[in-house]
Order: sequence, then structure tokens, then C-alpha cells
Amino acid sequence: MRSSTDARPGAVRTDGQRLLGRLAELAAIGDTDDGGCCRLALTDADRLGRDLVVTWMRELGLQVSIDGIGNVVGLWATGAGAPVMTGSHIDTVRTGGRYDGAYGVVAGLEAVETLKRADVTPARPLAVAFFTDEEGSRFPPDMLGSLVYAGGLALEEALDTQSIDGSRLGDDLERIGYAGPTPCPGLAPHAFVELHIEQGPVLEDEDVLIGAVTGVQGISWQELTVRGQANHAGTTPMALRHDAGYVAAELTTYARRLALELGGHQVATVGRMGLQPDLVNVVPKQAVLTVDLRNSDEGTLREAERRMTARAAELAAAEGVTVEPRTLARFEPVTFDEQVVGLVEQTARALGHTVRRLPSGAGHDAQMLARMCPTGMVFVPSVAGISHNPAEHTRPEHLVAGADVLLHTLLALTGRHEPDGGVATPAGSSGTAVAGGGRR
Ligand code: HGY
Ligand code: MN
Ligand code: MN
Repeated sequence: MRSSTDARPGAVRTDGQRLLGRLAELAAIGDTDDGGCCRLALTDADRLGRDLVVTWMRELGLQVSIDGIGNVVGLWATGAGAPVMTGSHIDTVRTGGRYDGAYGVVAGLEAVETLKRADVTPARPLAVAFFTDEEGSRFPPDMLGSLVYAGGLALEEALDTQSIDGSRLGDDLERIGYAGPTPCPGLAPHAFVELHIEQGPVLEDEDVLIGAVTGVQGISWQELTVRGQANHAGTTPMALRHDAGYVAAELTTYARRLALELGGHQVATVGRMGLQPDLVNVVPKQAVLTVDLRNSDEGTLREAERRMTARAAELAAAEGVTVEPRTLARFEPVTFDEQVVGLVEQTARALGHTVRRLPSGAGHDAQMLARMCPTGMVFVPSVAGISHNPAEHTRPEHLVAGADVLLHTLLALTGRHEPDGGVATPAGSSGTAVAGGGRR
């Protein structure tokens, strides 16, 4: 299908006040005293956020479907063929900001409302989705809901996922009333475009307004359980210790040294660490830590994993402890569809915005939808590159500009019905054929 952008000056634009108003209304759900948001997946705050977005979907006349893992899709069933889909997530990390995920969902609804109010009818169905448990920080892995939607994880297995606080995912899904009837995996969209804050420093550093995202780096999450021996902190000679806490600390500093040694896009984070018995005068008998390794190159990511494993084995032998790994998430790097990336670039320029291509350091639902259909993402700058932090911020005018780029990228992918019944790929721009979904 030919698609092109009609983002010329004077073309339809989103309503910034309406967009910012909805973002503020959603941010008030789970808001924290420090200006952030806490809507951990499948908690009551997540439920309330979901309820609000579903209400907006229904008010816009969308057909709302909820699948077995709680993914929600609002469909504007206009035109023919597989829908063009946009969306993101509304769950947050515990110390989240106001925009991570929520922005892409609210902007998708804004695009629908803008087109409806302007009597512009897409030639394809248009869907706005939010996916369950994108953050993965309560129920690993991250992007769990979109992974199930894309057929990358069986529903039954996903429902049995245990949270870090002792819940079973399926039970919590029932409890909040979002265990839906729509089958998983989901239908392959014609194309998928996700709008998201960059969550990094690149766009702001270069004073560029729009990011045409080229792909997402690979992710490796490991939970390491170190088992040693509790002993008296005062009487146990250093040579006789089997100190799980010491090994955990060594692995933490090694992860950082490893990332610096490998250089490039390599990053490493030990975000969680717990000691037992966690007492000032007892040598720790157990340590549980998580290691988050990422790289845009799969070979280097594997090398990083190999070296972490080798270092853990070395430390275990020297200290007389055991180290038991458990994989929490493992996704290879994803490259987005060149036509969609090019369309985002072309649309941003047609709207008069600066734009550059860049990879995503963060994981996103788009990396799972890319398994099913041509997929791309639109980024807007994050102030000081801060995210997963209550201080997360994006300038309002940048939020609105990003929503306009999303609107016109979606419209270029759907085409539009003309009053004479024809279907126009808007004049005045070179068409960009997008092959369409249906891949598994
Ligand atoms: O971990 C991530 O990159 C995403 O925020 N889930
Ligand atoms: Mn996100
Ligand atoms: Mn996030």
C-alpha cells in the first residue's frame, strides 16, 4: 500500500491543551509526593489508570477489546484491512515519571479525536493499544504483555509469572478485572508506530526535536543468588569466610568495569540487591542481585554475559560460595522497518521539525510488535535525559509536536477516504510503500 505524509503546513493538527490535559489526568493516578507516578503493573493504581483510558476509548467510540494477558486495544473500525496500530503502556516503575508509556497512549487517542473532529476518515482501521506490564520491574520480563501479543510467550506461562513481591500474574489480572476474552497472540497490525519520550540525553544534547528510532538494543536480565555461610562478624577470620555479600559487591563493581571495558553502547546495571540475614554483625549467608546488561550488538552482549558468568564462577571458587543464575529477560536487538523509519523522518521534516535517527536504549512494546509487522517509533527529547525518576520531564511544546508527527505518520500509513469515496494518499509528497503486517 502506498503511504505518504500530508503533514504540509495547514494540515490537521492535534489539540495540545486536550493532550496535556489527559496526560495530567492520567498522571494524577498513582501520583507520588515528589511529582512522579507509581502505577506498578496489575496494582490498583494500574487498574484505575486502565479504567480511565478505557473510558476515553469508549467516549471516542472505539471498539474496546481486552485479551487474556490484559492488553487493551481500542479500534476505530473504519476502512478495510488490518489496522494501523499505535500505543504503548500505562504501567510505570515504582519511581516513575509522568510520561514514560502514558504519553504514547494518550497521543494515540489524541490522533483519533483530532481526525474524528476534522472529519478525516482513515482508509484503514486505526487502533490504539496499551500493553500489560511493559516495565517488567514487578513481573519480569519487561514488555511481557506485548511479547504475549506477538506470540513470543505462551499465555499460560505468562499467567504463571511470579512477581518480586510474591504474587502470581494471572491472579492479579483477575483481581483487577482485566483478564479478557480476546485470544492471544493478537492480530498482526498492518503497521505499528509508538510515540515515546527518549529517556536519554541525545536529542536534547543536539537540540533536535524528533527522533526517528532505528531500533532497540538487546536486553539481558539475570537474577544471581549467591549462597555462602552466615557467621560471626567478629570471630570469623577473613580466610575462613564464605561471604555472599562480598561476592555480590564484587560482581556489582565488575559489571561496571566490564561495561567500561567493552565501551560503545554497552551498559550494565545492578538495580536490586538483598542480603540475608541483613544484620550488622553477621557475615551474609545469601545475596540476591539483578544484573541488567544491554547492547545494540548481539555479539558484544553475549560476550558481556559470558564474562559476567566467568567472573561469578571465579569468585564462587575463591570464596567457597555458590552462584545460581536465573534469567529474567533476554531479547536480541531489534531493527525497525526502514520504510516506517523513513516515514517518521519525512513527516517530521514536513512539519518543519529537526529530526535525527537514533537507536533506543530503553526497551519498548514496539520491539515486540516488530515481530509481527513493519514497526517504528517517534521520540521527543527528555529534559537532562532523565527517566525512571520522578524528575522525568519533556517540554509541553515538544509533547505536542511529537503528537503531530505521530498523527501524520499514522495517517500516511492508513491513507484517507476522500468525500468522493476515493482513497487518497495525500498529495504533495513522495509515497512510501509499507508492505503490511501478517508476519509472526
Ligand atoms: O527496561 C526498559 O528498558 C523498559 O523501561 N521496560
Ligand atoms: Mn516505556
Ligand atoms: Mn520504562
